[in-house]
Amino acid sequence: MSKNHQKVVLVGDGQVGSAYAYALVQQGLAEELAIVNLSKDHAEGDAMDLEDATVFTAPKGVYQADYDACADADLVVICAGAAQKPGETRLDLVGKNLEIMKQITKSIMSSGFNGIIVVAANPVDILTYAVQKISGLPANQVISSGTSLDSARLRVALAKKLGVSPLDISANVMAEHGDSEFAAYSSATVGGRPLLEVADELGISNDELLKIEDDVRHKAYEIINRKGFTAYGVATCLMRISRAILRDENAVLPVGAYMDGEYGIKDNYLGTPAVINASGIAKVIEVPLNERESKAMADSAAALKKVATDGMT
Ligand code: 2OP
Repeated sequence: MSKNHQKVVLVGDGQVGSAYAYALVQQGLAEELAIVNLSKDHAEGDAMDLEDATVFTAPKGVYQADYDACADADLVVICAGAAQKPGETRLDLVGKNLEIMKQITKSIMSSGFNGIIVVAANPVDILTYAVQKISGLPANQVISSGTSLDSARLRVALAKKLGVSPLDISANVMAEHGDSEFAAYSSATVGGRPLLEVADELGISNDELLKIEDDVRHKAYEIINRKGFTAYGVATCLMRISRAILRDENAVLPVGAYMDGEYGIKDNYLGTPAVINASGIAKVIEVPLNERESKAMADSAAALKKVATDGMT
């Protein structure tokens, strides 16, 4: 159940973290936002700047903090870690970021924290798996931003192609947030109608849909090649997931969720729609997959499992 006073701790105040903090403030979510960052000066400066941005939304305490601030937090969002450089894949970051995640998780848990953790650092599904194992928190309390951003990118791309608002498109990218992800076209809808039917009517070929899927898969690389990092997209998705948690919305959102037999996959984090509320992941929504999608899901799970197992040992 949502309570009156809510507190969020942001760990990692880099490009993604500060964009997330700004989105949170803009939405008037949470009464307190504590920012934990390696450079305390930077976090303090950002908190002062963000405080000015609270004037038109809700009264809020935004401040620099240490890990003990997690003790009574409802939500901790981890944006810390190295980001992809041009030419790097998300999986290339596993060595560097796994160590960072282990330290962060131990520090969060030493505070006595028992809320929800959302992880955004890459490779996000693998790092979230590690955070869940190390924290000992129930799997429903540890969420990966997963394919939330990829699904947003897919909806934006389909909206342009179909000439309808992305709000009226329900479509998920599933599995890894990364190179082995896929668009679950067979369950996508436009204004309640199957997307594949609508595309057919409009003369949009399967190849064109697969090109959109591929563009979505590579969009982060395109952005990173141009500006060096991505931030607004993922920050907005993190804000949306946070809102579902803080407002106990029971919203169905694509996230990275712990699989316990869903899609025939066990002990792995993968992108799927799930019901998100104050308890975290209330339920994984198992969407029907066609043959191509089932194979892509299984292949992606196997690829991630290998990296996760190698990384944890
Ligand atoms: C993104 O997809 C890099 O994972 C980040 O924008």
